[in-house]
Amino acid sequence: MQEYDEFLDEILVDEQAINKRVAELGAQISQDYQGEDLLIVCLLRGGITFTADLTRCITVSHTLDCMSLSSYGVGRYTSSGNVRVNLDLHSNIEGLNVLLVEDIVDTGRTLAHVLEMLKTRLPKSLKVCVLLDKKYRREVPVPVDYVGFDVPDKYVFGYGIDIDEYYRHLRFIASADLTRYHKPT
Ligand code: PRP
Repeated sequence: MQEYDEFLDEILVDEQAINKRVAELGAQISQDYQGEDLLIVCLLRGGITFTADLTRCITVSHTLDCMSLSSYGVGRYTSSGNVRVNLDLHSNIEGLNVLLVEDIVDTGRTLAHVLEMLKTRLPKSLKVCVLLDKKYRREVPVPVDYVGFDVPDKYVFGYGIDIDEYYRHLRFIASADLTRYHKPT
């Protein structure tokens, strides 16, 4: 695996800024769901890191489930537009307040697909929390209720977001200069 500093473009959000914003989102969500039951749905795999931190900043009691979808796939650096469900929910969400937690919304195709799918299961409410919003890339309109940061139209990685499945473990969010990036062999 190539060292990230060889293709780093810039650090977009550092660890301290992430922690601060995640705490703010947790506080807002806790206020909005006061007195309500809540199911947090983590969209794997990019949403893992954000969900793990966010859930610990939410003070109302809640349960957790996961779904896995993919739209990019290894070796693709733009959205394929094809969304595949790799793993479905374990829970029955009928009558529940569901909050989807996702790392990034880009074209909007992944979220649009999962929202359509989950609506048919009759949740009491269905909202979306994304850490990063690439607004200018949107191809499908999707309602996003909570946003951590707007990011430019650059390839981003770190804090859950991968390049060819690596670099998810980094504590910051950065943009990559893909002309300096070499695919793992
Ligand atoms: C990424 C990201 C979102 C989606 C956003 O997932 O985690 O789910 O793409 O793109 P869109 O708005 O254009 O649909 P990816 O398919 O790379 O899977 P991953 O979460 O396992 O990294």
